[in-house]
Amino acid sequence: MKVEELNVEEVMGSVGSILSGQDKKRGVLIHAFQKIQEEYSYLPGDVLKELAKKLSLPLAEIYSVASFYKQFHFSPRGRKVVRVCTGTACHVRGAAKVLSALEKEFSIKDGETTADLAMTLETVGCVGCCGLAPVATVNEDVVGDIGKKKLHDLINSIKEE
Ligand code: FES
Repeated sequence: MKVEELNVEEVMGSVGSILSGQDKKRGVLIHAFQKIQEEYSYLPGDVLKELAKKLSLPLAEIYSVASFYKQFHFSPRGRKVVRVCTGTACHVRGAAKVLSALEKEFSIKDGETTADLAMTLETVGCVGCCGLAPVATVNEDVVGDIGKKKLHDLINSIKEE
């Protein structure tokens, strides 16, 4: 979404009539962040500057609100976002090995993205599939029971991307 396409009045109208104009603008921010991130996979600085201008809010406030939510990112994301679960069950069943194999294979650390934007590697707490530990998610998909073969397949599927 281009910032100029953001219909501030329409979104503000759905935020509620009790809020003041400034609070409504802040309410618009989350919606705008989601749309921008859908488009770019992260929140580019120049787009946030445009948004600050459009909403007449200080840029620092825009960053402050965005950084409060873990779902928003300030640097480009990989086409595949791999999250290795490090919850207790996965930890006990070898999550550290899965994480370290991925870090080694792609030469990145937890929280980083490969230079070719093929993959972002992250860790996450329990994803609710403890019976399948160790578990990782790849975008929206869950990969469970990660042994050598599945790890190998996962690595290849990212490389083939
Ligand atoms: S601890 Fe990993 S899915 Fe629950």
